[in-house]
Amino acid sequence: MNDMLKTTPDFTIEEAQALLAQHFGLNAALTPLDSERDQNFKVSAGDGRSYILKIINAAEPEIESDFQTALLAHLGARADTLPVPHLQPALSGESLATTSARSGLVHRLRLVSWIEGMPLAQSERTDAALRSLGHMLGRFDASLKGFMHPGALRDLDWDIRNAGRSAGRLLHVADPQDRALLQRFIDRFEERIAPRLPMLRSAVIHNDANDWNVLVGEDDRNRISGIIDFGDALYTLVMAEVAIAAAYAGLDHPDPIGAAAAIANGYHAEYPLIEEEVDLLFDLIAMRLVTSVTISASRRAHTGGNPYLAISERPAWALLRKLDAMNPRFATAILRKACGFEAVAGARAVGAWIDRNRKNLLALLDRPAAAYAADIVPYGDPAHPMTVNSAAARPHEAQSVWTEHCRGTGVELGIGPWGEARTVYSGEMFVSRLLEKTRRSRHLGLDLFKAAGTKVYTPLAATVASVEIETDPLGYGCLVALRHEPEGCPPFLTLWGHLAHEAVGRLKAGDTLEAGALVGEMGAPEENGGWAPHLHLQICTDTGLSASEILGVGEERYLDVWSELFPDASAFAGVAPEFYEQTGRTHEEIVRLRKDLLLSNLSISYEKPIKFVRGEGVWLIDDRGRAYLDCFNNVCHIGHAHPAVVEAIARQAATLNTNTRYLHDNIVAYAERLTSTLPKELAIAAFANSGSEANSLALRLMRAHTGRENALVLDWAYHGTTQELIDLSAYKFRRKGGRGPKSHVHVAAVPDSYHAPADWPAEEHGKRFAEDIAELIAAMRARGEAPGFFLAESIPSVAGQVFLPDGYLKEVYRMVRDAGGVCIADEVQVGFGRVGSHWWAFETQGVVPDVVTMGKPIGAGHPLAAVVTTREIAASFDNGMEYFNTFGGNPVSCAAGLAVLDVIEGEDLRRNALEIGNYLLAAFRSMQERYEVIGDIRGLGLFLGIELVSDRSTKAPATEIARAVSNGARQRGVLMGTEGPHDNVLKMRPPMIFSKRDADHLIAVLAETFEAVLARAG
Ligand SMILES: Cc1ncc(COP(=O)(O)O)c(C=O)c1O
Repeated sequence: MNDMLKTTPDFTIEEAQALLAQHFGLNAALTPLDSERDQNFKVSAGDGRSYILKIINAAEPEIESDFQTALLAHLGARADTLPVPHLQPALSGESLATTSARSGLVHRLRLVSWIEGMPLAQSERTDAALRSLGHMLGRFDASLKGFMHPGALRDLDWDIRNAGRSAGRLLHVADPQDRALLQRFIDRFEERIAPRLPMLRSAVIHNDANDWNVLVGEDDRNRISGIIDFGDALYTLVMAEVAIAAAYAGLDHPDPIGAAAAIANGYHAEYPLIEEEVDLLFDLIAMRLVTSVTISASRRAHTGGNPYLAISERPAWALLRKLDAMNPRFATAILRKACGFEAVAGARAVGAWIDRNRKNLLALLDRPAAAYAADIVPYGDPAHPMTVNSAAARPHEAQSVWTEHCRGTGVELGIGPWGEARTVYSGEMFVSRLLEKTRRSRHLGLDLFKAAGTKVYTPLAATVASVEIETDPLGYGCLVALRHEPEGCPPFLTLWGHLAHEAVGRLKAGDTLEAGALVGEMGAPEENGGWAPHLHLQICTDTGLSASEILGVGEERYLDVWSELFPDASAFAGVAPEFYEQTGRTHEEIVRLRKDLLLSNLSISYEKPIKFVRGEGVWLIDDRGRAYLDCFNNVCHIGHAHPAVVEAIARQAATLNTNTRYLHDNIVAYAERLTSTLPKELAIAAFANSGSEANSLALRLMRAHTGRENALVLDWAYHGTTQELIDLSAYKFRRKGGRGPKSHVHVAAVPDSYHAPADWPAEEHGKRFAEDIAELIAAMRARGEAPGFFLAESIPSVAGQVFLPDGYLKEVYRMVRDAGGVCIADEVQVGFGRVGSHWWAFETQGVVPDVVTMGKPIGAGHPLAAVVTTREIAASFDNGMEYFNTFGGNPVSCAAGLAVLDVIEGEDLRRNALEIGNYLLAAFRSMQERYEVIGDIRGLGLFLGIELVSDRSTKAPATEIARAVSNGARQRGVLMGTEGPHDNVLKMRPPMIFSKRDADHLIAVLAETFEAVLARAG
């Protein structure tokens, strides 16, 4: 250094002017500029152009000025539009001129173009300006790609690769705490960076983009107008360019990492960085500062203090302290995100995996979270008494506010959403370490509020990562971290905060937990950090973070980064997205519009109707995200929105849908598959679009075959919505608006064993009920008529889930056929394996109908129906009149039908229906022992009924109780219906995929509801 000072050029302005004229042929005014070791002049030529004349320190090795010159020449040739000084050749044609000073020292001269602008140091370091700086440096370095010069291979302490040498200068730092701080960064450098140096990209870079070397436009200070001073250019790590610029930009900046992110973002756009480089940026920034403060300290020790060298020392120390207080992983996440990388590798894959596998995750609470009536906990409202009490550390008062709210509204679960802006975080621990004068306020977990003691279970298998007790006020209390490594998903952590302390004694790091295993219990305020009882559940995609490092609350500015490091745990916890976001019209509006625009008697379930927006498996999800266990809608036979059906429909719809006048594989494939489930006599299929249409077609077949009209039907039956079917449906023509039976319609009693006369022996019920049909046929015969057909559901459903007594259909079919009639089995509700023991409910009666009609479950929600009959009847129908049905049997519908059969067979759902059905029946029977009101339990497979009576001996219907139980179950999130002439039979037809867990849920809700309803009824 001292040598350099002795050889600093010392020309007068006049001498410099003369040199300029002599070597560059320019007569111009000169203004001296500051320089540490050279002599620089601003040259203002008469033509309005400006230059810089540099008279180089005589001690500068030639190789260095040659390197500078070569660099400038390269940029001139490769990037003449880049706003950097461009070389002006001397009159001799050389890039450098030479002169001798009075002292005898030889100096070299260089003239370069002047760059307009003011130093960034004198302007605001906005994000836009720093992004522009990144762009400029990226362009600069991109222009230097492939450039090399021996002078670039300098051994400088400032070379970031030599940052480890700072250790040798630590002795000059007086304060032991300061030394320790520097040592921490040096240790990280030696551990994380030094070993990787040989593998990282290196090139010639500017290497000193401090804010005096960077100019901004006078007119637009957010635009970098130039980069000057290549005196520190060097062959070193490419990433050093960003690190050095970021180190300077971060000085006295309220958000130094944000400043670095802006530079990295701009640089990456011009000179794409690789993830590994970005991962080192935080440490490289710190090491630039460490180098700077240690060089300053050592120079001060040698020179007794040089103000130029120490100029950035104070802010450098301040920034080092800030960086030291930060979590480098968070800073790195911000920097990665700024370059378009994931905040941590694999973060997005974790979120996507959870979303894809949502359905397979087990319930976190006793029931799936979406099954509870839930509401948002009002922490988003700073003035709400619950928030005020919580912030003031009065958890019991906060809890009372919430309990009161739940009591009044029926809410069972409080939800504190991810990302919510909150004012409750009042403690010191919530002050940001990234941003000055900022508090962390955005909630990064998902809060689930239930009573203290509520058990929480892991939805996924896990290994316990840690169990600890945090003692900070408004901290986590008992805190458990789990590690999950599901197949096909990067590993991730879940954090369970505010638990009761019992978990500490039960769990330890390394324990493995099966999916569904107990994690802990929601703690009381005394154990949970001083909060109203709740679980703070948080996902962490960075498995390198320890439980106490995971930020439960984050800075708003970096919410996008937190959303990848700590994604919303709602899907993991089973909270439906609809809970947060409602779309479409309100209930009231829809009811009004239905009344205005649709037939006003179009039926609506429940006094307070439900608006469903999504179906998923056994669940129906309403517009507020509440999931209802669907035990009623038998159309979604294999579960709502079964992916196999959805895919089959979508694929075929995207390929072709036409009518049946053209040849297509699907219709014959489906006819083959469907008839193969039936007795061999039932060999001919026809497809339609609704159960009603199927029944109407069955009547046409019957008429063509028998030429008759006389109908034998069961009381209280429903067969469809067309007039001719209403005429056959006693359930309709005998009730409000009905006109009684037409003359061709003959109604037999429902063969309901439970209500059979007491003196009928049980084994004779079939025969005795069949006598009713015998009488009707006899009456016809007496009038010289005969029956055209007998039409009945194989298990009368609307009549109250009535199971036909043994032998009934055999007897009836024999009589009808003897009288020349046709037997039609309506399997619209009961078919497709619902009974489990058989594909078709008529099979349980040991009969083979002449015609079978099918609908509802056949397409698992897709409108499809079918009629299957014998070859003989089909032949009668083929009487010369062409049969055509536009939609029936179209390729899309048949694809849906095929998919349904595939799933029933592939997933062995008939066996499931039987097993779960038997499990439910056993549970219902045990309920029957507890509740007098349960008169009869009926069911086979997943077709179930519970008849409620006010008196077991008289069997008087308990209609009100049945209604109250059905409504009570709905309030508790389970859907069922009531049926039967007195509406006193609870009717259940859950999807065939109903699991034992679902069954337990149904049983629990039913029992809870019976208790509540019966307690109220006294
Ligand atoms: C037994 C039975 N048959 C036929 C139908 C008519 O079917 P769809 O409503 O598809 O026309 C129904 C409908 O409830 C039914 O329950």
